[in-house]
Amino acid sequence: MKAKRILVINGANLNLTGTREKEIYGSTTLAEIESELVRIGKESGAEVTCFQSNIEGEIINILHSARNNFDGIIINAGAWSHYSYAIRDAIVACGVKTVEVHMSNVFAREEFRRTSVIAPVCVGSIVGLGAYGYYLAAKYLLEV
Ligand code: DQA
Repeated sequence: MKAKRILVINGANLNLTGTREKEIYGSTTLAEIESELVRIGKESGAEVTCFQSNIEGEIINILHSARNNFDGIIINAGAWSHYSYAIRDAIVACGVKTVEVHMSNVFAREEFRRTSVIAPVCVGSIVGLGAYGYYLAAKYLLEV
């Protein structure tokens, strides 16, 4: 069987994870989260590729390039999750099964965070479990 390929996409400000608003997002850095995801992938003989950008168009471009090249996507689009129809359309266009992750419990915060325009085009969303949400998403995508 061919090795599964998982793409992990992090959007705006998520490069600061582990250093910004630690009481909300925890103290695990994005580099640490990414290396754990690579390790989880290796355990199952899968390839995990990680990408982060603060530029919306770059997120759209990587989603386009994911078409036919990945078996699953984990995306934390940061604040774009709440209003980017362009990222939503790109998730649909790439045709790859996508899981949305938010480290914080977006439902327990400001009103604007309660809406995700990408949630309806994802297979599911994991919110409020910190870095662990990414690992659960990876385990799910490696199993299905
Ligand atoms: C976030 C939640 C968003 O509302 C916020 O803009 C982020 C991080 C999370 O992981 O909890 O940047 O996506």
